[in-house]
Parts: sequence; C-alpha cells; structure tokens
Amino acid sequence: MKVIETIVEMNRLRLKLAEPVGFVPTMGYLHDGHLALVNQARSENSTVVVSIFVNPTQFGPTEDFKSYPRDIKRDLAMLEKAKTDIVFMPSAAEMYPPRFSSWVDVEKITEQLEGAVRPGHFRGVATVVAKLFNIVRPARAYFGQKDAQQMTVIKKMVTDLNMNLEVVACPTVREPDGLAMSSRNTYLKPEERKAAAVLYQSLKLAQQLWSQGEKDAEKIRRQVMELIQKQPLARIEYVSIADNETLEELDVVKPPALVSLVVKIGKPRLIDNVVLE
Ligand code: PAF
Repeated sequence: MKVIETIVEMNRLRLKLAEPVGFVPTMGYLHDGHLALVNQARSENSTVVVSIFVNPTQFGPTEDFKSYPRDIKRDLAMLEKAKTDIVFMPSAAEMYPPRFSSWVDVEKITEQLEGAVRPGHFRGVATVVAKLFNIVRPARAYFGQKDAQQMTVIKKMVTDLNMNLEVVACPTVREPDGLAMSSRNTYLKPEERKAAAVLYQSLKLAQQLWSQGEKDAEKIRRQVMELIQKQPLARIEYVSIADNETLEELDVVKPPALVSLVVKIGKPRLIDNVVLE
C-alpha cells in the first residue's frame, strides 16, 4: 500500500495504475461502513484508491472541523488489511492553495434537508469530491446510502458536468441494534449510545406503516416523531418524507420515497434514512 500526500505524486503514480480504478473518498476515522465500501471497490476494480481528507470547506463555522475525530495510524492499518493499493492523504494547503476560488454548486437539491440546516455544506462536498475525482480519475466511486442527500448531489454533479465515472451507492452498515455506523457515533456517551437505537426503530416503523398500505406522508411522519419523542435524550431536528430523486417533500408517498431524519442525542447530530420502494 502506498501513501501519497501530494497531487503531483498522485498524478505521476496515476499513469501506472491498472484499470479500472475504484475510489473511496473518506474523512478518515474509519469504521466497518467505510470498509464495506473498500471491500466492494476491491471486488470490482483492479486498483483501489482511498482518500483521507477532513475537508474544511464542508464544515460550518460552528461545526466540529477542529474536533472531528482523527486517527491516521489506525486508519492506515485498517486500509492495509483491506488490501487498499493507494491512500491519498493531502493537506488542506495542498487541496486549497492560497487564492483558491472555484466552487461547484449543485442547485435545488441542496436547498432541502441537510442543505437547509447546513448552508454551504454541499458546496464544500461537491467541490472537494470534484477535485478528488479530477486527481484520482476513477472508473467507479463508492458512497454510503447513509448520507443519502450527499449521494444524490454527487450523482447529479457527475451527470450535469459529464464526469466520466460511475457513482456506486452502497447499503448503510448498522450496529447490531440498528444504529447506522458513523465516525461521529464516538461522541455518544454510553446512555446516549443506547438511546440512539431509536433512530432505526423509527425508520423501521415508517417502513412497516408503508408496507401495511399507509400512503399519507404526514401520518407516517407523525408516528415516526411520536416514537422518537418517547426517548427523553432525543431532540428531533427534522423528519422528512421526500421524493428520492428531487428530494421534494411528499404529501402522498410515491415510491421510491426517502424517509430521512436528523436527531440530536447529546453532542452529535445523528442522521439516517430508509428508502420506501
Ligand atoms: O462522506 C464523507 O466522508 C465526505 O463528505 C466526503 C464524501 C469524503 C467528502 O469530504
């Protein structure tokens, strides 16, 4: 496994890589969800590149950029074991040199959900992912379904800007009690961690109501919220039932619909979703 820190070095090495190249962009502090992406990339490509870069431009001024969990030594050991070929680990100065001034703005679908509560977040995500795609030039890039809106934004950017690669959506990896794996779960205290199981329980309730024939989005949303509100440590930020492609809120559930929610438990905002097919 080679660890590369500069774009010049990555460009030089890129010429020699066996095609196709599969790419997994990450912000590090890896967990089994990331490893599932790496494993899928490994099984479908001749070369696997993973990036580790905590991207400052996708964090708001009051968000956790400085305290975002980092453990490079552990990450590299995990990636080596997962048979990664190349780890691209640039510095912030390498990615955003002085006078950097070009941005990728995916409109409309970034105005709802996470985009509405985290202004500028998806501009930062789209810009860094576009830069990473240009540097790594993969045939396929792998993203987790857990960040459903991020996936939709990246797919839209790839289509709109004619980027020549396939975006592969991979299922959310869950803990035994259903909590979606996330680097930020590490912020949860033991009693908060237990309470966090309510997110997936409430999403399963939505799925159950839908499979029993409920089509009224407001009724499903209300029951989901009532279940979460029974958990005293949970503070709901939003519960949304939206069209899976346009992310516009639905009155009547029409598949595929994205049920997504953000619940604050202790310090972290926990995000999760299911798709009603
Ligand atoms: O999902 C993430 O970890 C990040 O948003 C990504 C895609 C690596 C861009 O910084």
